[in-house]
Amino acid sequence: MKLGIPREAYPGERRVAMAPAAVAAAKKAGFEILVESGAGSAAGFPDADYSAAGCAVVGSRAEVFAQSDAVAMVRSLGADPASWATDSALVRPGQMLVGHLEPLSEASAAALAAPSGVKAFALELLPRITRAQTMDVLSSQASLAGYKAVLMAANHLPKLFPMMMTAAGTITPSKVFVVGAGVAGLQAIATAKRLGAIVTAYDVRAAVKEQVESLGAKFLELPMETADGQGGYAKAMDEAFYRRQAELMAGVVADMDVVVTTAAVPGRTAPVLISRDMVLAMRPGSVIVDLAAERGGNCEATVAGQSVECGGATVIGPLNVPASLPFHSSQLYARNVVAFLTHIKGLNAESFGGDEIAQGTLVIDQGEVVHPLVRERLGLEPRAAAIQA
Ligand code: NAI
Repeated sequence: MKLGIPREAYPGERRVAMAPAAVAAAKKAGFEILVESGAGSAAGFPDADYSAAGCAVVGSRAEVFAQSDAVAMVRSLGADPASWATDSALVRPGQMLVGHLEPLSEASAAALAAPSGVKAFALELLPRITRAQTMDVLSSQASLAGYKAVLMAANHLPKLFPMMMTAAGTITPSKVFVVGAGVAGLQAIATAKRLGAIVTAYDVRAAVKEQVESLGAKFLELPMETADGQGGYAKAMDEAFYRRQAELMAGVVADMDVVVTTAAVPGRTAPVLISRDMVLAMRPGSVIVDLAAERGGNCEATVAGQSVECGGATVIGPLNVPASLPFHSSQLYARNVVAFLTHIKGLNAESFGGDEIAQGTLVIDQGEVVHPLVRERLGLEPRAAAIQA
């Protein structure tokens, strides 16, 4: 199978869907790889590194599409409508497209793309099951975002993270609070611990306490019910629940130097867990990094894509954090893509044999939006085949 890798076009997107370090595994799995010239340059991968790894470097985007059976991107369709506007003229019916496609929040982009005949797989929709772990782009990218969130906080904080004993006296360690201990949150905890901070974390899922403690952080116990949902995700709760949670966390937040928020419920806007008043009660110089900024933010004072002052505190609402670590985020993303396509290649292309991974991610097939959730967002009836199944 020929796998094409175009250059990403989204503003600020420095990642690329294939890294030289992932090429050997891709070739071993039977892929021939074509890379658009310059595709990896923003991630630190010159064309020569792809050639040395055994890829064909081609001069134009049109050539990449023309020669490939499958095209892998970091962003396409709803995740980068402008690049799709160009690429829609380059895809062929039946050609596979794999990447972040924002199929739920930008479902209309999938509807517009369907007539092109592309067979589009949205990697954001991968089921979070053990079998799919090696393909899970949300996890691989969130982990890096959790790491970087702590570095951003440390960079803004007018204090050190670690305890330091110096001839001029002892410096006490900073206190970090992580709200939401999923993939991004656990990596934020581990990073803050490595930097020497005193770390506390909270999550609404019961299983998380043990994971937090295994990283050497303290789990905050709140007198509230837990909210375990399916597949390792939290259940959506009502506004009253989140308000009560915010009230119970207020005293803890006021005592922190840094708060990193990552609380998310799939398919929903992020719950607001830190009110403006809670930020105003923090000590001057405190920092909040709100990784949920893209989904509305966990903090009332967050402005997506900006760093704002609120009282004496700074509230950072970063967007596309994995793109700020493009070398490693691309490397992990590429390995996810290779694992995914290797899996898909081994299935019966007509029906996918009811495979949970293929069917869970397939958004467009044979000129139609096929994914039930995306159809629902578009107000379309369930498909006849799906009803029979
Ligand atoms: P995840 O689903 O693994 O973790 C989210 C965690 O939040 C879960 O453990 C869940 O139980 C917890 N949670 C839900 N409601 C909560 C509440 N009310 N209080 C405390 N915890 C609660 O998600 P992941 O992959 O760790 O991503 C976390 C967030 O970071 C998401 O909003 C995601 O979109 C965002 N993210 C942002 C990036 C950026 O560039 N800004 C990059 C990667 C992730």
